[in-house]
Amino acid sequence: MPVPREMFLSNVWRDGIFKDKVLFCTGGAGTICSMQVRAFVALGGNACITGRNPEKTEKGAADIASVRAGAKVIGIVADVRDMVAMEAAAERCATELGSLDFAIAGAAGNFLAPMSQLSSNAFKTVMEIDTLGSFHTAKAVLPYLVQSVQKHKNSGKEEPTGTGGRIIFISASFHFRGQPLQAHVMAAKAAVDQISSSVAMEYGPHGITSNVITPGPISGTEGMERLSTADARSVKESKAKIPVGRWGEVKEIADATVFLFSDAGSYVNGVVLVVDGGAWRTTGADMGSTWKYPDFFFSGAAVEGVKGGKKSKL
Ligand code: HXC
Repeated sequence: MPVPREMFLSNVWRDGIFKDKVLFCTGGAGTICSMQVRAFVALGGNACITGRNPEKTEKGAADIASVRAGAKVIGIVADVRDMVAMEAAAERCATELGSLDFAIAGAAGNFLAPMSQLSSNAFKTVMEIDTLGSFHTAKAVLPYLVQSVQKHKNSGKEEPTGTGGRIIFISASFHFRGQPLQAHVMAAKAAVDQISSSVAMEYGPHGITSNVITPGPISGTEGMERLSTADARSVKESKAKIPVGRWGEVKEIADATVFLFSDAGSYVNGVVLVVDGGAWRTTGADMGSTWKYPDFFFSGAAVEGVKGGKKSKL
């Protein structure tokens, strides 16, 4: 579905800054990642997105490609938990589009559950999608990113051929302060942040930059469908607790992505860029939902009214 440009990109970027560059994004048909990729493609690049669901991935790729005449976006079915599949996906991307210059490790899994209802397999599943998946993504793309940065240096002066050799990991802020119902995701995302640190330190000498973007509560996203009940009063309360007084927009994550990939971000390496309106500093345990801390943990109830909840069929 065509998306108006102002929904996924601020009016501060120059068209063509990613001309002839290729972005590889896992989970690229998702509500946040698809906008990051869309912004990159709108500014001149081509892309490969990966996902587990063939129909969603194919449709997502075609949809993103429609943002710019002549854009090439390939949908590749691959599970980030499978290292061989990730290597094959990266190779196919670089072969079919001519290079692989940027990457986003975006695939994630989330649901709300108290530890008492979290099986070993449930914990392992999120660790494997988020943490192992991010590691696999980095391992699969880094050889191509090294090639890219050799052609497109990050010298701090605007290079005639633009930037290349950059990776962004998508994380969350729950482990900064702690978040009930998110034991699995706190563990997984804390590890993701440190995978990015390792890439920053070990591949920085090659010229590669590695950073994390941590989205806060972003309106209209799968993440918020899974984390917050839709009841108007709870949502209003949650917004009031955020320093800027609102949930974010997908465009604000896409803008941060363009910044880190562009010449403006050349000296930014090894950071966690939190794009959340200051939310993590002030939001409490309830996350804009009807379950309240600590009473919920005495109740023995399961989380209801969210996408992916144990009892929901959503
Ligand atoms: C307890 C649950 C559960 C729940 C699943 N499980 N949902 N346990 N409460 N609500 C358990 C299952 O019972 C099973 O354990 C284990 O988890 C694996 O479930 P499967 O369905 O077999 O796994 P799989 O098909 O691989 O699905 C993975 C998934 C699913 C994570 C469970 O939700 C998924 O595919 N999600 C992908 C999309 C997604 O979550 N996007 C959200 C991104 S938002 P047992 O023991 O029964 O075998 C995000 C936050 C951003 O990341 C932060 C913004 C602020």
